[in-house]
Amino acid sequence: MSTERRMNVNKITTHVLQAMKEKGEKISMLTAYDFSLAKIVDHAGIDIILVGDSASNVMAGHDTTLPITLDQMIYHASSVMRAINRALVVVDLPFGSYQGNSKEALQSAIRIMKESGAHAVKMEGGLEIKESVLRILSAGVPVMGHLGLTPQSINKFGTYTVRATEEREAAKLMEDALLLEELGCFSIVLEKIPAILAREVAKQVKVPIIGIGAGPDVDGQVLVLHDMLGINQGFHPRFLRRYLNLYDEIKGAVSNYIDDVKNCDFPNAQEQY
Ligand code: KIV
Repeated sequence: MSTERRMNVNKITTHVLQAMKEKGEKISMLTAYDFSLAKIVDHAGIDIILVGDSASNVMAGHDTTLPITLDQMIYHASSVMRAINRALVVVDLPFGSYQGNSKEALQSAIRIMKESGAHAVKMEGGLEIKESVLRILSAGVPVMGHLGLTPQSINKFGTYTVRATEEREAAKLMEDALLLEELGCFSIVLEKIPAILAREVAKQVKVPIIGIGAGPDVDGQVLVLHDMLGINQGFHPRFLRRYLNLYDEIKGAVSNYIDDVKNCDFPNAQEQY
């Protein structure tokens, strides 16, 4: 789709995203966790910034998303909120802040909205988290669902392989997607599932479906910023397209700086007072 056919809006809202789905304009979404990168991503014109709990991996170096806390998510989200003008900002409710207790789930969502100023929250799961989703929605907080590979459940599944390849799991995913739509979620992320299933979900569900490793026939795409910029090395899922190799670029720049300092080449006559 050419730049001219993009919707020309100053602010992305959940209603704008719905209109994009209805007009067939694809939705772009990336993660960001800090002020400086969020500013660049917003200025580039991204539609949705996800303050993902993947911050646990890419910012803090944990093996899973489980350790990140609500306070840490709020810190990342408020840094992002100070940077953005146009994007809709969605924040992951971290593991342990919403499963099993819908009152606690609402408190967690309220803390994120009040303390960061974000626009919406994202939650992993379907029927299992119905009560929490309902309670949060009833407080006027927009909710994005997340089905398929749900990294907060890694200890239940044991691997990060493609999900919903079996008929029973695929049927449950479709039921969960329809349920989340019925409850009032404004959008759903589908992670690492067969493209053919994602296409069917995007056809049957009326709210925007955003894919990551879910093929082209959904309403939008999301990637982890550090992965698509090539900051992370050693993570090569099939669905990941790398747009830069920042690891090598940054390493080269830092090596040049070290050489310049060691060789007394920095600072030079112009770089001093
Ligand atoms: O936390 C995250 O970055 C995510 C995306 C992978 C969708 O949930």
